[in-house]
Amino acid sequence: MTTLPKEEAARAILARNDRGGYTVPTDRLYPFQWNWDSAFVAMGFALFDVDRAYRELERLIEGQWDDGMIPHIVFHAPSDTYFPGPDVWGTRHRVPTSGITQPPVFGMALRHVHEAARASGTDGTKERTKALFQAALRSHRWWLSARDPDGTGVVAILHPWESGSDNSPAWDEALARVPTTTTTAIRRKDTGHVDASMRPRDEDYQRFIHIVDTYRACGWDPKRQWTAAPFKVADVQMTGTLARSTADLMHLAKVFGSDAEKAELKGMHERLLAGLSRQWRPDLSRFVNRDLISGQDIDTPTQAAFIPLAAITLDEAQRSAVTAEIERWLKNMVVGVPSTPAFSPAFEPKRYWRGPVWAVVNWLIADGLRLNGAEDLAHRIESGTVQAIEKVGFCEYFDPTTGEGLGGDTFSWTAAAYMVLGRRT
Ligand code: GLC
Repeated sequence: MTTLPKEEAARAILARNDRGGYTVPTDRLYPFQWNWDSAFVAMGFALFDVDRAYRELERLIEGQWDDGMIPHIVFHAPSDTYFPGPDVWGTRHRVPTSGITQPPVFGMALRHVHEAARASGTDGTKERTKALFQAALRSHRWWLSARDPDGTGVVAILHPWESGSDNSPAWDEALARVPTTTTTAIRRKDTGHVDASMRPRDEDYQRFIHIVDTYRACGWDPKRQWTAAPFKVADVQMTGTLARSTADLMHLAKVFGSDAEKAELKGMHERLLAGLSRQWRPDLSRFVNRDLISGQDIDTPTQAAFIPLAAITLDEAQRSAVTAEIERWLKNMVVGVPSTPAFSPAFEPKRYWRGPVWAVVNWLIADGLRLNGAEDLAHRIESGTVQAIEKVGFCEYFDPTTGEGLGGDTFSWTAAAYMVLGRRT
């Protein structure tokens, strides 16, 4: 197998962040198991340790709720370096977890790990894939019933942290409506690890916790939350990853699914693709979110606009429009794709989700471009990502205007992205 210049360092990060079958995103700043981080990390492990890749997914599923939701954090072991911890969430699962979710990359990761197991001839993995396939299917059912009860085909987030792009300017207007009052005492820990200028503002943090307080008061019941939600956005990044994972589950269903499950997945897939298509805006050359409280489109440009490509086949006109748009975002950038483009008034090249580049976002965008035949652009984005990492290390994210590495360092998903994308460049 190809060895990359920083292969050893990447593996050492995964080893160092291993807490016993699961990987923390980085020490101290994020000391638990995070949902979509683990899905990417599993795909990294699949390159050299299939058993460990399965373990990552299995340990995440220990946190899955009876209703199918896979939480955004599983608190396997206590830590006092993070806020809000299990006491703030007040959920009642066997293992302490948060009460919200994150982008469902799980199905995509499962197919990836399963195929790696087959390619390496590893024995005894069929049962593991089968059990995880069922867990994934339960979570997709949860998504469609809990987060798209009206059957629009676009699933909603009820908290900005669910999006994975926690501090995105896409949430500014919707979040501004949320009161800053909390019943929980706020004890931020993040600004003790990372410079405050890169992190969310205090008043937004109060709103984040106000939303948590609201859902805890609903006993984490999806129906009550849907009605009480002070923040509700139909999100194309979420729906794009869900649709992509659904396609990957359809593939696995050929071996692991019953006829009824195959038909069910096909129905989900059609519904999600139809929903995504309705969010395409030809005048903007991208997909947009919808604020379900105001009923308005959110047309703030963010990376979410391109995530549906990982799931949807664009027509010729859309394809050339979207590639031209991405080129515009990359213009004058040292490394792309920026999470908010430089031409937007919301652009802040160093602040969390308001400009910086994330390696895993590039992974999804490049996959989507390749699926849509834009091989050259996909390749440029991947090699730009790999070069940025080789230059400054496995940082949480990168300043697109300078290439500087920011946020936490020794980041697990950046190490996984490096290994996976590095093999394609
Ligand atoms: C931040 C990111 C989120 C990620 C988490 C752990 O909260 O916004 O996407 O999952 O860090 O890396």
